[in-house]
Amino acid sequence: MKFKDLVGLITMVLYLNVSIVEAQKIDPFHYQPQKKVTCTQGAVASANTLASKVGVSILQKGGNAIDAAIATQLALAVVYPGAGNIGGGGFMLAHLKNGKNISIDYRETAPSHSNKDMYLDKEGNPRLNLSQDGHLASGTPGSVAGIFAAMKYALLPFKTLIQPAIELAEKGFSITANQADDFNELKNEFIQLNTSPTVFVKTTPWKAGDTLIQKDLANTLKRIRDKGAKGFYEGITAKLIIAEMAKGKGIITGDDLKKYSAKERTPIEFDYQSHHIISMPLPSSGGIILQQVLKMIEHKNIGEMKFQSAASVQLLTEAERRAFADRAQYLGDGDFVKVPVKTLISEEYLKERMKDYQPGIAGNSQSTKQGYIKESDETTHLSIIDAEGNAVAITTTLNGSYGSRTVVSGAGFLLNNEMDDFSVKPGIPNMYGAVGAEANAIFPGKRMLSSMTPTIVLKNNQPYLVVGTPGGTTIPTSIIQSLVNMIDFKMSPEDAVNLPKFHHQWLPDEIRVEKDFNPGTIQQLEAMGYKVVKKESIGQVELIEINFGKTRKITAIADKRGDNGAEGY
Ligand code: GLY
Repeated sequence: MKFKDLVGLITMVLYLNVSIVEAQKIDPFHYQPQKKVTCTQGAVASANTLASKVGVSILQKGGNAIDAAIATQLALAVVYPGAGNIGGGGFMLAHLKNGKNISIDYRETAPSHSNKDMYLDKEGNPRLNLSQDGHLASGTPGSVAGIFAAMKYALLPFKTLIQPAIELAEKGFSITANQADDFNELKNEFIQLNTSPTVFVKTTPWKAGDTLIQKDLANTLKRIRDKGAKGFYEGITAKLIIAEMAKGKGIITGDDLKKYSAKERTPIEFDYQSHHIISMPLPSSGGIILQQVLKMIEHKNIGEMKFQSAASVQLLTEAERRAFADRAQYLGDGDFVKVPVKTLISEEYLKERMKDYQPGIAGNSQSTKQGYIKESDETTHLSIIDAEGNAVAITTTLNGSYGSRTVVSGAGFLLNNEMDDFSVKPGIPNMYGAVGAEANAIFPGKRMLSSMTPTIVLKNNQPYLVVGTPGGTTIPTSIIQSLVNMIDFKMSPEDAVNLPKFHHQWLPDEIRVEKDFNPGTIQQLEAMGYKVVKKESIGQVELIEINFGKTRKITAIADKRGDNGAEGY
């Protein structure tokens, strides 16, 4: 490099105010999502290109998939504020190169002053605005505890992993068109649900390419860098959260924060069509639903039915109906309620469950109330594979879009509205239309039932697929379709992710299909007696396929829906 060019580069770096190392790899003001990447060493697929780039830069620095997952997750908390977070919770699933499978549960918990009737009025009617909007909707956040629970599997120092997030928050990044739309649409909610002005509100409308700078968030991240989990759960950040709760009638206390802990759990594992599936156990319903549905259909030759034929859609629909009916009745935090998991996933039980399945004739859900649907995709997933064969799938969430829409004043991060994932009253649907019973009632310290389904598939004991998606109750059904598309319909990973999806969740008794779903199939399903409802879009899958041939080939797919981006090397 000539002296003149070197001076130019240094001047540009100083101008952009980013470190040379990051500037060489990531320009936060000029980036485009890649939807498909083919490579040999390692890859990251996440909801945001900048976050995926951060993950790959960590792999290239010698980090493993867990290092990359931690750095990507922290970057998402900055560049994807709608769902990336430090004020929410999530699940990490990993297959380590030594063959060990682990899952870390950092789901939010109900605060100690919560109770099962806290979202009911005097007459016992649900007040869902309180479980969904503002301070009272938040559970005690788990994300930061989860990140530090994962650190024991990481190689690089934490300060290296958090640095890109700090820089992105401090110096800013260009927002996408979708983010500009979000900020403009949510302007009034951000004003109403906050006790002080937030960085997401400005006087003139946002547009693609505008810079978002988050100084308060950068300072919070620095406290976490310097003090570890205590930089969030104790000290200044905790004081700011408690002050915010006091201003907005929230109930998270200092004790709730101090007592929060992430938990390592035994993943759900089962075989399906000669593949080994690993997924998330309770308090996620995802792994159980995955196992129930795939085992209910395994011996019914779905591979011979055409993709999205009325027959294959009906088979999956009827299995999903039964799994979601069980979810509503039996599933909740297994640390607080007795959940008959062994029976629910046993072959005999599932065989019995499908006994009344009749090809060509619609089943029907027994219900006392119809669910109402308010769709939201604001959970987010990242899939990672490294050069050593460590695979990580993380799904993390604030629950609804931008969570409670409440930012902790002075700390710069959004709080979740995860309390709505509890059953606020038996039979009353939450924002995803999911109903629950006593098993998922609110209790202090309890984790609300989730649908997040980070999943890893092994073939011949090697990682083959790393997959996950946002989408509330549509998460497990989107994962099921991605797996059936790859394993039974032998599709390319690109088609498996991008072709139209559908969903059934017992209540409401309807098949939701994406708007470009095959019209002929819709007609046939209606003739069988199904109600079919069109939806704009379902899920945003991040899928990595790893093929171990003579040379390893990795294909990372970021869903065509949304701003998702795949990166690799
Ligand atoms: N908040 C979405 C889920 O956990 O299922």
